[in-house]
Amino acid sequence: MLSVQNIEAGYGHIPVLRGLNLEVADNEAVAIVGANGAGKSTLVRAILGLSPPTTGSISFNGADIGARPPHSRVEDGIAVVLETRGLFGELTVAEHLRLSEHAGSRARRPDGFVRMSLEEVLDLFPVVREKLSTRVEFLSGGQQQMVAVARALLLQPRLLVLDELTTGLAPKVVQEILQALGLLRARGLSLLIVEQSVKLAAAMTDRAYVMSLGRVVHEVRRGEWEQALLDDTLSKAYLHG
Ligand SMILES: Nc1ncnc2c1ncn2[C@@H]1O[C@H](COP(=O)(O)OP(=O)(O)OP(=O)(O)O)[C@@H](O)[C@H]1O
Ligand SMILES: [Mg+2]
Repeated sequence: MLSVQNIEAGYGHIPVLRGLNLEVADNEAVAIVGANGAGKSTLVRAILGLSPPTTGSISFNGADIGARPPHSRVEDGIAVVLETRGLFGELTVAEHLRLSEHAGSRARRPDGFVRMSLEEVLDLFPVVREKLSTRVEFLSGGQQQMVAVARALLLQPRLLVLDELTTGLAPKVVQEILQALGLLRARGLSLLIVEQSVKLAAAMTDRAYVMSLGRVVHEVRRGEWEQALLDDTLSKAYLHG
């Protein structure tokens, strides 16, 4: 589905990603973990097209999308929730969702793709339903995060990329998110999740890439999560990668 090959990307002349490779298969959930400043959010920005790669390639379902602009991602089938969320304070929750619903309804999808209705998305995040007529600037940080995910889902993605969604959320809300992600996977969605907590990454995904200094320095393969949580390979990769 998603294939990132040997990319370099950064800000102006400052390189951040230096020869990074990763893959996400159909209906797979993959985590990215790594220390602050490792380049995780820059990778997310590169996938969205905000920090396009200067070398290497990003392909999605066989098409090279690395040089395409961010707005074409809806058409491509990728929805991203950035670390900064990108919500508009003066707009209500319903206005955010309506804009997204409109964009998602126009996106072409393959035969057999099941679109999510607004009702289904609101069922996944009841707190969003309660706040539909509220301006986003009056929501708590956690509520805003839910709105950002609901908005992303209405773009009808085939791959959902989440940058540190659980940071700062109450444990009960995190459990709700885990449940929602499980339901989304059951519908065939692929997930790429940047997560600070290795434990949560293990609960949310099949496998992981550990990043350090703009590269992947370690992989936790399918079936290896349990062992990775037990031994110190991850902390070693973080510290010395
Ligand atoms: N807008 C920017 N302009 C210039 N440099 C930036 C910018 N954003 C990030 N960087 C630099 O890029 C590097 C990687 O940052 P990035 O945000 O990708 O890390 P991260 O792994 O997401 O960290 P965190 O866990 O803190 O979110 C850092 O050295 C940072 O200083
Ligand atoms: Mg980040």
